[in-house]
Amino acid sequence: MYDSAITDRANQLLSRMTLAEKLGQLNQLSGNYGQVSDALAEQIRTGQAGSIINEVEPGIVKKLQQLAVEESRLGIPLLFGRDVIHGFRTIFPLPLAQACSWSPELVEKCARVSANEAATTGVNWTFAPMIDITRDPRWGRVAECLGEDPWLCAKLGEAMVKGFQSNDLSSPGAIAACAKHFAGYGASESGRDYNTTDISEHNLRNLYLPPFNALAEVGAATMMTAFNDLNGVPASGNSWLLKQVLRDEWGYEGMVVSDWASIEQMQLHGFTENGKESAFEAFNASVDMEMVSPTYRNELEGLLKEGRIQPKQLDAAVVRILSLKLAMGLFEQPYAQPEKLPELVCEEHRQLAKEAALKSCVLLKNQNQTLPLDEDSLNSITVIGPLANDGYEQLGTWVFDGKEEDSITSLQAIRDALEPSCRVNFVKALATSRSKDDREFQQAVEAAKAADAALLFLGEEAILSGEAHCRAELNLPGAQERLIEEIAATGTPVILIILAGRPLTLESVLPKVDALLYAWHPGTMGGAAIADLLLGKASPSGKLPITFPRKVGQIPIYYGQKHGGKPVTPENYVHMDNFEARAPQTSLGMAAMHMDTHYTPLFPFGFGLSYTTLSYQDLQLSRSKLSRDETLIITAELSNLGSFDCEEIVQLYVRDRVGSVTRPVKELKGFQRIALAKGETKQLLFELPIADLAFYGRDLKQRVEPGQFALWLGSSSEPELQSSFEVV
Ligand code: NOJ
Repeated sequence: MYDSAITDRANQLLSRMTLAEKLGQLNQLSGNYGQVSDALAEQIRTGQAGSIINEVEPGIVKKLQQLAVEESRLGIPLLFGRDVIHGFRTIFPLPLAQACSWSPELVEKCARVSANEAATTGVNWTFAPMIDITRDPRWGRVAECLGEDPWLCAKLGEAMVKGFQSNDLSSPGAIAACAKHFAGYGASESGRDYNTTDISEHNLRNLYLPPFNALAEVGAATMMTAFNDLNGVPASGNSWLLKQVLRDEWGYEGMVVSDWASIEQMQLHGFTENGKESAFEAFNASVDMEMVSPTYRNELEGLLKEGRIQPKQLDAAVVRILSLKLAMGLFEQPYAQPEKLPELVCEEHRQLAKEAALKSCVLLKNQNQTLPLDEDSLNSITVIGPLANDGYEQLGTWVFDGKEEDSITSLQAIRDALEPSCRVNFVKALATSRSKDDREFQQAVEAAKAADAALLFLGEEAILSGEAHCRAELNLPGAQERLIEEIAATGTPVILIILAGRPLTLESVLPKVDALLYAWHPGTMGGAAIADLLLGKASPSGKLPITFPRKVGQIPIYYGQKHGGKPVTPENYVHMDNFEARAPQTSLGMAAMHMDTHYTPLFPFGFGLSYTTLSYQDLQLSRSKLSRDETLIITAELSNLGSFDCEEIVQLYVRDRVGSVTRPVKELKGFQRIALAKGETKQLLFELPIADLAFYGRDLKQRVEPGQFALWLGSSSEPELQSSFEVV
């Protein structure tokens, strides 16, 4: 990971360090939020800190760095860590929303801008990307992830790492990335954050670990351990996961940091007796740095003296930390260089945020071409809802440095675009997304009656998703659904725009609206992007990176499910409303289904409409039989038959028909964003290296197993074209 010049320098420095200085590098201390306490200053001066978390005031960051560089004995610079999750000051759409773009290029650019902005303050390390796979939208942190699929997640995660770190970690504006949370965090039972996880090794290796492996390979500078216990062992002290898999199998030499107090919490898990044992388990598992809690500070020296941990383990951890600091060029340039970086929220950053929001919105319904609105024929529209004009809520979860006043709201953007030729009426109707107070409903109904179209901006406030913000229901909170009903009853066309941090269950709402645009929490420029999409200045192009359930009880529901021995089909599916009274036991389809809801999701993975009509045809494979070292070439034709230019995300799926362990019914193996002008036809070309079909089989070895494969190409995980091939 680091070249020998870096590790040589790290080792030279190590040879000059006292035991206390070595131990000091392993500590990440909390900043004092805008000031420097005497205690913190002393800890830094005496080499007791390797990193500071959550200090972003440039003057304070500089002061702390000066203490380390100019006043500590060896002048070792500090890492300044911060959660820069979807932007620093310019806020981009949520990570899950960015994933709807299926555009590694765009995601990389957003990460670069985020890094550049954070770096102006002296922050040089972000705790992103979060590459936890989850199939549970109840989990609040679904907002922060890149979806349900390991292939898509890995590609977008790699792009984020490249964006944050650039090609050279020491260049101005580059910051270290952190792949998190290693591992299994997204599988928390019942979607409750921090909850226990139980994942078979086979499932871990085929589903949860591949994005981490991919990011280790592209050089993510750091990784963070997870809060959860995994198969009974907390991830922050899980030596199988950290030592055997991450270090030994993957050869990862980057620094591993714990999550906030997750080492200390091993005692609460009931895994360790006390802080000393927690420190032992974590350090022994090769966690290099402890975030905030004090077990390393309090216990490692004693553990060394007792011979339970070895000096060479300590040296290895310190070398990993020093190597990172050296690779970042911090010894040469420890301070921020804002003069070399663009200004915060400059026009260029805002335009990128708008582009990201444009590509993150997903059009889920558009009956009778309700959208785009025809500006010329509109005399009056009514904008309704608590999320129409709220520059704070549209920023989304876990935003600490973004500012509401930078936001363009949807109402603002719609007014700018339409007034004065079209009257724009606004009724907030509900104080928040959770409000049950319907006193403004009548006013909203009257306004809707008088308008050519009603635009409803509903969903969830920022605080309803993100860390620790999990839900048991996924419906629209408060009285929102009733508001939709009342507006729909006016007969005025209803366009529902959802701002939310997670997939919501919208089955009952869907028939009541004419169009549905899922905008997630779209960030600083969200309103400008939404207005452009509603008015047809751009065609929606986002596709879902996660399956939308009809009902909470379907969770987990995902496209890559197993086929099973009694699959549900249109032929054997029966809804319980259709049983006769006293029906015999076996009258049901005897299939893997819920009898009180349809077996399909509300919207499948990969789904998203545009304003145009596309046609896929002429799928051709270069060969029908291939060996494991060959590459399959796949071609097809895609035509834009409608009257809008568009960008289509073409998706390639395979199914390994028979495996030594059962295989998913579909697996994403490629995707491309293709721009098509109206009337245009393009030739599609995908290359599928057969090596990409490898998986961990019954013996937990990764290999391609020969046999028959199905292949699909199309616009979602329910793709248009199908073929097959054989691996020999
Ligand atoms: C806890 C979260 O789990 C982690 O993702 C985050 O980076 C740290 N807190 C620091 O804020």
